[in-house]
Amino acid sequence: MNRYVALEGIDGAGKTSVSTALALLLEEAGHEVMRVREPGGTAAGEGLRRILLDGPPVTPWAEALMFAAARAQLVTDVIRPALDRGAWVLSDRSVYSSLAYQGAGRQLGVDRVRRINQPGLGSTWPDVVLLLTVSPQQGLDRQARPDRIGSQGLAFLEAVAKGFAGLARDEPDRFVVVDAGRPMEQVLAAAWNALEARA
Ligand code: TYD
Repeated sequence: MNRYVALEGIDGAGKTSVSTALALLLEEAGHEVMRVREPGGTAAGEGLRRILLDGPPVTPWAEALMFAAARAQLVTDVIRPALDRGAWVLSDRSVYSSLAYQGAGRQLGVDRVRRINQPGLGSTWPDVVLLLTVSPQQGLDRQARPDRIGSQGLAFLEAVAKGFAGLARDEPDRFVVVDAGRPMEQVLAAAWNALEARA
């Protein structure tokens, strides 16, 4: 079963609204849904979130390792147990954000970032990645209050978007690419179709 679903995309792609709507649809269909967000979702993870998004400057590797640490805790404490009891997990971001933001955006290398995340995840990688695409400029325009990483500017977001596109090309079975520049009903319909097809 493909129940671990990650919503991905650059800042401002609308992941949270889509995730809220998908959760309702899944619940209406009688499923238990666990919603999580990265970084966060555990006490340690929320502490790391504050450092990562609002805290002091950190080096790119320190950043990548803290995202991986928050994720390792979340997978063990929340995601794995939910999947094991048959729930769907809808995650606002996942390891694929690290591959795109730290691997491509910060230029640490997608494979090297993959390798530092693997030990904390084991076999628990998202089954489905819904990649919501908007142009980097549109993403910037849609951000209400950019955080430290979201405020890196257009060139950075372009590198991240390219990183996501490369990942989607490399893993076509896992990725569903949804054009999020369209009206919400259309975005949601495309996302829901993809989930139903894979459930
Ligand atoms: P978040 O509040 O989730 O922003 P958004 O609404 O854009 O999803 O903030 C997460 C920020 O952290 C976002 O700028 C992306 C970045 N990020 C990484 O750089 N690497 C990661 O592994 C994750 C999970 C997030």
